[in-house]
Amino acid sequence: MKIFLDTAKIDDIKKGVEYGIVDGVTTNPTLISKEGFKDYRAALKEICNIVQGPVSAEVVSLDSKGMIKEAESLASISEHIVIKIPATFEGLKAVKELNRKNIKTNVTLIFSPSQALLAAKAGATYVSPFVGRLDDISTPGMEMVSQIVTIFDNYLIETQIIVASVRHPLHFVEAAMMGADIATIPFPVLEKLMKHPLTDIGIERFLKDWESVKNK
Ligand code: E4P
Repeated sequence: MKIFLDTAKIDDIKKGVEYGIVDGVTTNPTLISKEGFKDYRAALKEICNIVQGPVSAEVVSLDSKGMIKEAESLASISEHIVIKIPATFEGLKAVKELNRKNIKTNVTLIFSPSQALLAAKAGATYVSPFVGRLDDISTPGMEMVSQIVTIFDNYLIETQIIVASVRHPLHFVEAAMMGADIATIPFPVLEKLMKHPLTDIGIERFLKDWESVKNK
């Protein structure tokens, strides 16, 4: 399973890339607004240069024409840019046209398997089912992912599934068990994936025992 970082924070992206396990980045207007960039396009370019993999940038237009215009402008920033398009009928129209123009798309704000299937049919490169936000309203988000995996397998659909709105390590592990292509995760969740108290205790004990060998 590929790992994308769900953030626009340059320092965290640099750290994740240094760890050697980050394949891409997803941003959205909320994540961008948190960073207070003076030049949004320059920031996206820097992120692309650091990651050297797919970087999703979201459009804010609601009509397909506006989405396509924004998409063309964003795509000119770097070959790594993927255009995030909301799961609406106007979004599907834009996806179809952008696919024709060889611009990659990530259909976002997906909350049902039917939305994912329609996005794939329109030609989306990626679909992003939001699991945490479904869990928030007492609907199991990962069940939706399992349904999408089954549907895409049934029809050999090549659109890749990005498990999004990931809130904790269990979402990540379940995504991998289900065979999702990608999980996009906030940096604090990435840190939790590697942390284990028994690892820390083990290192401490080995170092202590090694001291007694050295002192002989
Ligand atoms: C994914 O592409 C989205 O940016 C993100 O996962 C949304 O997560 P949230 O529900 O925590 O805002």
